[in-house]
Amino acid sequence: MKAFVISGGNPLKGEVEVSGAKNVALKAIAAAFLTEDEVEIKNAPFIDDVMAMVEIARKLGADVEVKKDHRIIINSTKVRPVKIPLGMGAKLRASSVFLGSLVSRYKKAVVPNPGGCRIGARPIDRHIDGLRKIGIDVYYNGDGYFRAKADIIKGGEFRFEKNTHTGTETLILASVFCRGKVILENAAEEPEVDDLIRLVNLMGAKVKRTKARTIEIVGVDKLHGTSFEVMPDRNEVVTMAVGAIVTNGRVFVKGAREKDLKIFLRSLNRAGVGYEIKEKGIEFGKKEKESVKPTKVTTNCHPGFMTDWQAPWTLLMTEADGESIVHEAVYEKRFSYVEELAKMGAKISLFNPKVENPKEFYNFNWEDGEKYYHAAKVFGPTKLHNAVVEISDLRAGATLVLAALAAKGTSYLTGIEHIDRGYEDFEKRLRKLGAKIRRIDKEGEL
Ligand code: EPZ
Repeated sequence: MKAFVISGGNPLKGEVEVSGAKNVALKAIAAAFLTEDEVEIKNAPFIDDVMAMVEIARKLGADVEVKKDHRIIINSTKVRPVKIPLGMGAKLRASSVFLGSLVSRYKKAVVPNPGGCRIGARPIDRHIDGLRKIGIDVYYNGDGYFRAKADIIKGGEFRFEKNTHTGTETLILASVFCRGKVILENAAEEPEVDDLIRLVNLMGAKVKRTKARTIEIVGVDKLHGTSFEVMPDRNEVVTMAVGAIVTNGRVFVKGAREKDLKIFLRSLNRAGVGYEIKEKGIEFGKKEKESVKPTKVTTNCHPGFMTDWQAPWTLLMTEADGESIVHEAVYEKRFSYVEELAKMGAKISLFNPKVENPKEFYNFNWEDGEKYYHAAKVFGPTKLHNAVVEISDLRAGATLVLAALAAKGTSYLTGIEHIDRGYEDFEKRLRKLGAKIRRIDKEGEL
């Protein structure tokens, strides 16, 4: 069982460079199948999820070179659109976007029902509704696979019932060769979606946002190869920012882009915690006299407060002078880390705020989530202490690492394979900032 041993209490100080965005690199690998030319993906983070997508690409018959300088070069000339094995596809959510690119190119695809973090049911009903609307025949016979095929991909209009980040991406990839054009309404506006649009347009697609939450894809005959650089990972920026603040340190996050983080930076202002926008990044850390103020935050799809920032924000609020509320409106089950934080002394109680129309208000399908708590009341300030904790998903796991770095004493964190899915060399980069953290592979090594 892999684990981290962390001796907390040291401030994180210095400079760290943000990696390329996980949630762009994963989809760029699927998008490369839209052309038989070579596609070069630069600034790809070398994380387990990216390597899992590379494995799927190779299984489909693509030539994939992974270069040491974070470049992935994909050539899909020899691809046969075989079934993506359940064991491979079920490892991660992003595998479902292959439904879009394989059907676009080969008019068929057999893709496992996606897995990913256990932060909810995470069905893909919205993706399937959209694919069917543009003439793709998709069915699921309960054996773990979605089967899709299409003679031609019709143009047409499709309105997403509720926001879906990867659903929007799947429909974009499925529509690039459509007859006429496809209009997607109530489409996701996450910056990662815009980065994928940038990639397919570099390949010769005609995709643009025509108005708020509306994307138009004009069909083209063919796409060509390109070289594409992945945007910085804004979720990793937030992880490093909160790490600097809760350890009373100061960290310059090189590559952090203000435009991707607007509401996070505004929330930091509301919490009374400064930051400094510099030429090539952003510096985070509390100033001497600054103390953290309590806040009320509700997660939402872009441009709202990103759900992947919810766990680190809750940790930050354990330092606030007073009571804060963190309301998770995107996923139905994203507070599993709260009981682990409680083992470190955090005072957090889960509850359900009064919501007029939950079916409308929450981004998840209400029937998937009505039985869970959707908000946390955080009482601060509390001094955290060491503990033995279990990591159960990616962003929550990173938050528990930050908590252990802030807490006095030695903590032991299991389940770090969730960290390896989304953070490259996490402990090495934290050690460079002064953290006392080491990885152990066997229980006895503690
Ligand atoms: C993507 O997940 C990201 N993952 C998530 O990052 C991110 O938190 C999320 O978008 C929001 O931006 C990848 O890109 C691989 P959704 P996804 O479709 O596709 C429900 C990380 O750690 N829903 O917008 O799951 C769904 O269950 C991950 O990097 C349906 O019910 O986001 C969820 O509750 C975590 N039916 C909510 O909507 C559908 O057909 C948002 O899902 C689609 C979604």
